[in-house]
Amino acid sequence: MPPLNEITGWLLLGGSTLLLLSMALGQIWRHSREGRLHRQRLALLEEDLRRSRERRERESSLPAAWNGKRKFRVERKVLEGGDICSFYLTPHDGRIPLPNFQPGQFLTFDFDLKGRSEVRCYSLSDAWSETFYRVSIRRKPGGLISGHFHDQINVGDLLDVRAPSGDFYLDPRGTGGVVLSGSGVGVTPVLSMMKTLLAEHSRREIWFFYGVRNGEENIIRNELRAWASLGLPNVHLQVCHTKPGPGEEPGKDFDQVGRVTVDLFRKVLPSNNFDFFTCGPGPMMQDLREGLQSWGVPESRIHDEAFEQVVRRVAVESGTIEFKRSARTIAVGGTASSLLDLATKEGIRIPAGCRVGHCGTCQTALISGQIRYTKPPAFKVEDGCCLPCVCLPQGDVVIDA
Ligand SMILES: Cc1cc2nc3c(=O)[nH]c(=O)nc-3n(C[C@H](O)[C@H](O)[C@H](O)COP(=O)(O)OP(=O)(O)OC[C@H]3O[C@@H](n4cnc5c(N)ncnc54)[C@H](O)[C@@H]3O)c2cc1C
Ligand code: FES
Repeated sequence: MPPLNEITGWLLLGGSTLLLLSMALGQIWRHSREGRLHRQRLALLEEDLRRSRERRERESSLPAAWNGKRKFRVERKVLEGGDICSFYLTPHDGRIPLPNFQPGQFLTFDFDLKGRSEVRCYSLSDAWSETFYRVSIRRKPGGLISGHFHDQINVGDLLDVRAPSGDFYLDPRGTGGVVLSGSGVGVTPVLSMMKTLLAEHSRREIWFFYGVRNGEENIIRNELRAWASLGLPNVHLQVCHTKPGPGEEPGKDFDQVGRVTVDLFRKVLPSNNFDFFTCGPGPMMQDLREGLQSWGVPESRIHDEAFEQVVRRVAVESGTIEFKRSARTIAVGGTASSLLDLATKEGIRIPAGCRVGHCGTCQTALISGQIRYTKPPAFKVEDGCCLPCVCLPQGDVVIDA
């Protein structure tokens, strides 16, 4: 039998060899794992580059947007539920592909009803397609143009449409996380954003919030189901029902009871480090904006759009407005909501569409004097002009109306 110190020596040698071997194996395994991760990251990067190259090539081959009005034919009319109808529009001149648009932008429609011209804006509610644009319109009780769309506009009818525009949009080339939130028919622009991101296989962190009264008013049930079935780890869906219908179950038919609020964002989002895109009724947009600001979200990351003008009377400097074309002058002072409303009250008609500074329909020449905007206009106003729907006079002004 070998002496005890020889056995101990062999054991120590064997132990250290094993240790060295396992360290070497660990090192090899770590390197091969890092190599694999590195290769995966490289493959993803190459995939992103290929997609962005394809997107660039596709966009550069598309025609530019048209000027003025273009005739579109209603190809399909689909009643979605919740008193919302979608219209699929194809160009009457047959020229496709259609110009690209940024998801979140809207189309402007011109109507001549009983000799009166009416202009309305409707958000594009789908991702870009070569052959059609889609808008989804809620029937406003007693609403002139939404009612006209629902009751009078049918497959085969022609519509006068102005090119996609608007500054409430998401740049699909961006990289940071996004929160897309739409309530009621306000889901339309964020639906276009979501569909665009998914069509582009975006790897951005995406949170989609949808607020409706109940399942009956949920017009994107099929989309939500399809998105959920993709099981994408970067996509999170939150459906909020303010008044769940009988038999509707949390976790199955909806995720939250109540409206989409900043409290909900704070509860479910991992942080406030997102770009927030919200659309819904005017007062709700105001609440969300204030809530996001007090949560510390920088102004540059809050993007919102209200479909309706929030009528708010504010102090207006004393002075006069001369409506040159109508040969009328009025005195102003106290409070007012906009130059457009001041004109309308006097029976002076200034054509208007969105009434929120987006479409430019109300653009009027400012012949003399100063105005101030109550809301920064999204439309790029021409020199020497103003947008009466979102401005007020400062002292005496003369306008071409
Ligand atoms: C950028 C943008 C995108 C929109 N996208 C959609 C959409 O995707 N789906 C959808 O259903 N709706 C959308 N809307 C709302 C839509 O443009 C109409 O305001 C809505 O359909 C009501 O029009 P109406 O003719 O039926 O209503 P009416 O009440 O008949 O309009 C009647 C009168 O109100 C005036 N008026 C029109 N709009 C306003 C207003 N905003 N504020 C005050 N007075 C007004 C008109 O000049 C008219 O004299 C959007 C609005 C904007 C600004
Ligand atoms: S009506 Fe659209 S900008 Fe004034």
